[in-house]
Amino acid sequence: MKTYLVTGGAGFIGSNFIHYMFRKHGNDIRIINVDALTYAGNLGNLKDVEGIENYTFVKADIRNKEEIEKVFKDNDIDYVVNFAAESHVDRSIVNPEIFVETNVLGTLIMLNCAKDAWEQEDGSFKEGKKFLHVSTDEVYGSLDNLTDFFYETTPYSPHSPYSASKASSDFLVKAYVDTYKFPAVITNCSNNYGPYQFPEKLIPLIINNALQGKELPVYGDGKNIRDWLYVDDHCKGIDMVLEGGRIGEKYNIGGHNEKQNIEIIHIILDTLKEILPDSDPRKANVSEELIRFVADRKGHDRRYAIAPDKIKAELGWEPETFFAEGIKKTVKWYLENQEWMTEVTSGDYQKYYDKMYSDR
Ligand code: NAD
Ligand code: TYD
Repeated sequence: MKTYLVTGGAGFIGSNFIHYMFRKHGNDIRIINVDALTYAGNLGNLKDVEGIENYTFVKADIRNKEEIEKVFKDNDIDYVVNFAAESHVDRSIVNPEIFVETNVLGTLIMLNCAKDAWEQEDGSFKEGKKFLHVSTDEVYGSLDNLTDFFYETTPYSPHSPYSASKASSDFLVKAYVDTYKFPAVITNCSNNYGPYQFPEKLIPLIINNALQGKELPVYGDGKNIRDWLYVDDHCKGIDMVLEGGRIGEKYNIGGHNEKQNIEIIHIILDTLKEILPDSDPRKANVSEELIRFVADRKGHDRRYAIAPDKIKAELGWEPETFFAEGIKKTVKWYLENQEWMTEVTSGDYQKYYDKMYSDR
């Protein structure tokens, strides 16, 4: 039985990954979820798995060597899946320091603790161990030409403090492979969407605001392009790379689903109008008139687009959920989980929202 140490498992993708893995592998795996429970981490995302015998939650910070060392000491870890990170570009523009602390130094601590636990006397590593670092397509920078794509060989050119911190962590992982022959792999995925995404990110923010009849903020001209992937397809890719990905390699994950932000907003509005019954009072709020073009994000990358050729050819990965279906499932999930939304937008969310949007 493999034991997975998942960091950041109480966040958006991490919690979806834990659900995905137990759905797929049942009791054949053990998962230890290490999360510091920042504003983005929520144990409410994991209610469905809490009772599973092979699931354990440990509240620990990847920046804290002693805490992480203890997790490795107490458990024989086979796979690390490193999701834990500060993940929002807008926050990184306002407060870059925490991005370096968590994404760069935190990853370094994860690497060192895994190395100490897995290294043998002769400097080689125990059989079957793997460290998968979850990264993003944003490390590659921005594409102006519509016919260009990000390949694994595309040089890194990050623009935001967020993407620069993720790029730094990717380089550290690669350095551990090259220097120590440390058994690591990196995945670089495009924008994810689906259940449990914190409503600071475009899709859940627009759904939540539209339902409340609040303005829908569009940065710049709304024509920036992102390449959207349903979160379960990302989880499937990570699972496949853990099983079959070659040590020292990196794999891009994306489903060729590029859309302008303004298109996404119209699709969400149309989907809400289609799904909400006439009897639901929130339906009257949903309107194109809520759309507001606001000041652009500083350094706003124009277009991201992943070429997933390598993971398809080597591992047979294919996305299963196409956007029309995925966005419907996602909108439905937020409609059916209004309590979740109310809970995550209580607390500091309103302060964050006012700071980011009130004078924009
Ligand atoms: P998220 O912000 O929803 O979740 C991050 C999680 O990490 C939270 O549970 C948080 O509590 C935890 N965390 C933060 N700092 C920590 C620390 N110091 N120690 C322990 N836990 C800590 O992020 P997400 O969207 O789920 O992204 C997960 C990973 O995937 C990130 O590494 C991100 O860069 C990468 N990624 C995200 C996307 C996307 O579209 N969201 C796309 C590609 C890659
Ligand atoms: P986001 O979900 O923050 O993801 P990322 O910046 O990592 O791609 O933003 C997706 C796109 O939507 C990005 O081009 C910025 C834009 N955006 C808005 O136009 N308005 C908003 O309120 C937000 C949060 C994002």
